[in-house]
Amino acid sequence: MVDVLVIGSVNLDLCASVSRLPEAGETVTGASLSRFPGGKGANQALAAQRLGANVRLIACVGDDAAAEEALALLRDGGVDLAGVHVHADLATGIALISVAPSGENQIVVAPGANAAMDSESIEPGGADALICQLEIPASVIARAAESFEGFVCANLAPAKEIDVTVLQRADLVVVNETEAAWYGDTLVACSGFIATTHGARGAELRQGGELIAEATPPAVTAIDTVGAGDTFTAALTVALVEGRSPEEALRFACAAGAAATTRAGAQPSLPTRDEVEVLLERF
Ligand code: RIB
Repeated sequence: MVDVLVIGSVNLDLCASVSRLPEAGETVTGASLSRFPGGKGANQALAAQRLGANVRLIACVGDDAAAEEALALLRDGGVDLAGVHVHADLATGIALISVAPSGENQIVVAPGANAAMDSESIEPGGADALICQLEIPASVIARAAESFEGFVCANLAPAKEIDVTVLQRADLVVVNETEAAWYGDTLVACSGFIATTHGARGAELRQGGELIAEATPPAVTAIDTVGAGDTFTAALTVALVEGRSPEEALRFACAAGAAATTRAGAQPSLPTRDEVEVLLERF
């Protein structure tokens, strides 16, 4: 079993299912509201655990009811939460999400306690893999990546300035098309794999500018794409660290990401390994 450490965000997602996403300045009414545990770090932690890894999460939440709600599925799923710090003065992160019938979404995050994570107080310790994303301060990621000895995956989402040492150190960098365009030539500093996702069209894996693998996901009926990128990131990391070939690992990750779009909500939709294997067999 692969040991994974995730350092990242925990949010409570407030999701409005709308008939269509609003334009700037427009009000769209008639939505129905649901609450789901979310946050890119928490989603990636639970995704890796459901895919068969043994996962530890380092994160920061507020001392409030939203924290219990946000951590509930991680706790039920067996993720080790001993590294989740409770901040006395800040609120748990909240994500305001609108989801259209096509599964497309818009997300606004109020980071709260996530933004208070402090690089000096984090001791990554040992694991086979470290997964991190950018909903927490970039300085935390830089220090963790520098001191960690195993496989490092940096999911550069949401796009923001990051120390070049993270790109140089990461064995795997994951971006979607928007993030890839935002980082542009900066990504030439990456020495490991760069996985770029293209939504329902699949993903590609490159190293040093050379195409290593391409995969398309199995056809599914997508109802909510929230958490699909997090699932892809966790699945690709777990599969590569398990020793699967880049082609196999990318195929597995695309199938896992597709499976995550077939149910509503970030964490309720995260697939188990068996669900992904069944989807791959039918593909
Ligand atoms: O990647 C999806 C996640 O982004 C949501 O769960 C939301 O919390 C935002 O952080």
